[in-house]
Amino acid sequence: MSSNNKKRVFSGVQPTGSLHLGNYLGAIKNFVNLQNDFDCLYCIVDLHAITVWQNPVNLRANILDVASAYLACGIDPKKSIIFVQSSVPHHVELSWIFNCISRIGWLNRMTQFKEKAGKNKEKVSAGLYIYPNLMAADILLYLADLVPVGDDQKQHLELTRDIAQKFNNDYSEFGGKDFFPIPEPLILDESSRVMSLRDGTKKMSKSETSSMTRIELKDENDLIIKKISKAKTDAFPIPESIDELGNRPEVKNLLNIFSSLSEVPVLNILNNYAGKQFSDFKKDLSDLLIARLEPIRNELIRIEGDNGYLRDVLEDGAIRANEKSERNIKEIRKIIGLG
Ligand code: TYM
Repeated sequence: MSSNNKKRVFSGVQPTGSLHLGNYLGAIKNFVNLQNDFDCLYCIVDLHAITVWQNPVNLRANILDVASAYLACGIDPKKSIIFVQSSVPHHVELSWIFNCISRIGWLNRMTQFKEKAGKNKEKVSAGLYIYPNLMAADILLYLADLVPVGDDQKQHLELTRDIAQKFNNDYSEFGGKDFFPIPEPLILDESSRVMSLRDGTKKMSKSETSSMTRIELKDENDLIIKKISKAKTDAFPIPESIDELGNRPEVKNLLNIFSSLSEVPVLNILNNYAGKQFSDFKKDLSDLLIARLEPIRNELIRIEGDNGYLRDVLEDGAIRANEKSERNIKEIRKIIGLG
């Protein structure tokens, strides 16, 4: 809870490549909606990005890209704090403390680590393994109550809750009782989980080699039309009921995207298109995507051309985030016996 009695919201996005429709519908759209009612901090999590090697020139550009995307999507730096994770050193300090609270058994359960490490477990960085502890530090450093994320981050949020609870228990006699709030994930409904345009069983991702699998926030209108027209479907017409979508993941994904953008339930969309060919539906979906993404793209280009503005927003964000984190880390050090 913040000093003005508003609940506190924290979330972050990794600067590892072009942001896509999944980042927008699963997370950033929600960030924008929350800023009127809550005290919000939105972070560009560059220290998470380097758990996998990043070309420094690209990393620097990607950090500014995520900051521009936050602004272009409608995050208002007067209402919310927008900042870069590495500009607040307390994230790293708290993550070390959490490395000592979190358990190896908990980290071993993380499916995202297993997916990312694959068969190469011995060769990935130690940072990738303890990544969830840093994520817990991001959230708990600001005593955040609510964390808007896509469904793929749910398990990391559960770990964050376990760390908060263990800290509060382990130090209950030393001022730690109820110190950390137990943060709640804010996950939109299933339709906000955006899957690859080429394989409806895989999530849309920045790291997928082919950019035809995703719609990027910077895609021109023609490219959006091309990607949607080539998006995988199947030989059957659009069904009448949600049940019939069961084993048609690509079709379900396109309907979910339509629903998420238009805020019309999937069933109503099916009523409109049932029995029709995909070409009509895909044309309307492209129109909808263009109507939503074109203004964001134009704003992105405008902001990226104004480096001074972007720098000011991030400098101001770093000062405001540091003020909050400094207060909390001092208390945390005291509770543990470090200060
Ligand atoms: P990242 O950078 O992978 O993704 C940023 C946000 O976008 C959501 N997302 C999706 N939502 C729906 N469909 C998709 N295909 C899709 N792909 C990505 C993610 O769920 C996320 O909300 N570990 C985090 C970053 C992080 C963080 C934090 C988040 C670091 N510290 C503290 C919240 C709080 C990550 O890698 O997100």
